Amino acid sequence: MTDAIIPIKWENDQLQLIDQRVLPQETTWLAYDDAESVAHAITDMVVRGAPAIGITAAFGVVLAARAAYTQSNSDWKQIIKKDMATLAASRPTAVNLFWALERMGKCIDSIEGDPVGTLLAEAKKIHEEDIHANQTMGDLGASLIKEKCSVITHCNAGALATGGYGTALGVIRSAWRDGKIERVYADETRPWLQGSRLTAWEMVQENIPVTLLCDGASAHRMKQGGIGWVIVGSDRIAGNGDVANKIGTYHLAIAAKHHGVKVMVVAPTSTVDMNIKSGADIPIEQRGADEILSLGGKRIAAEGAEAWNQAFDVTPAELVDAIVTEKGVVENPTAEKMAKMMANS
Ligand code: MRU
Repeated sequence: MTDAIIPIKWENDQLQLIDQRVLPQETTWLAYDDAESVAHAITDMVVRGAPAIGITAAFGVVLAARAAYTQSNSDWKQIIKKDMATLAASRPTAVNLFWALERMGKCIDSIEGDPVGTLLAEAKKIHEEDIHANQTMGDLGASLIKEKCSVITHCNAGALATGGYGTALGVIRSAWRDGKIERVYADETRPWLQGSRLTAWEMVQENIPVTLLCDGASAHRMKQGGIGWVIVGSDRIAGNGDVANKIGTYHLAIAAKHHGVKVMVVAPTSTVDMNIKSGADIPIEQRGADEILSLGGKRIAAEGAEAWNQAFDVTPAELVDAIVTEKGVVENPTAEKMAKMMANS
């Protein structure tokens, strides 16, 4: 990797986030001092991508604890609950958010005295572990690609969506390093254009050849040949291996099956929700219709038209060839195989 892209940092006693809404035209860092603003940053897509949301929430808890302890050094554990609930309500689908809040919550339970140092260390640990997991998954995923080929990815599961390096793009980075990638096709990913704005930017930074596709073009591109894998991230993986990811992933997986293209899902175990048996129980975020009806703040759809803006879909496990986590690879996922992988230490 050349200059590492790290979208989240703790500096000057503040949380700093790269504003992903304005990339790649502008590189702007925004600073956060309180948990409520951090929750808004998650809802408003300043920061997005499942692992990045979890890491951000962990730092949000540090800010919440600082404020609560300043207010009352005896009642801060009670006071902080409101901010924890606000952070938890910021987005519903990526389970990494709830995973990180639970981990910070356990840390809170064990603290006596000023909590800031301990919680900051835990948030930084969550961040570092995520980068490390991505590098491990990068190598594991790259080893599944046996012949040099082109790949299709959807949305942005890159450094920007994580603590750094990326999940799907982590595999692509590692496979590119190993000479296994011909070209990356990136779906543009309506309505937030994470593919054209963020994935393409990350690939260009590292001189990895990237071609954008309209979201509806992937099946047609697969038909022309040369595509070996669809490689995507995930927001939540159910106990049976069903995969929630950015809307459009499901039809990409169906098209892949039809064309004999393999599907790889790359996600840390913080994305796996063993409390949920199947994808049917994954809460899917419904975002505002305006995101589809308008473009760049300007109405484009006919007045009177409505829009159905589900931000994620669920790809059934039988359409997935491999789930790659930092604990290992699950091929042709089933509930039994997922449970076995999660039990690995
Ligand atoms: O709405 P977003 O941009 O948060 O959606 C992101 C995705 O769907 C990613 O593919 C997923 O979070 C995996 S990120 C490593």
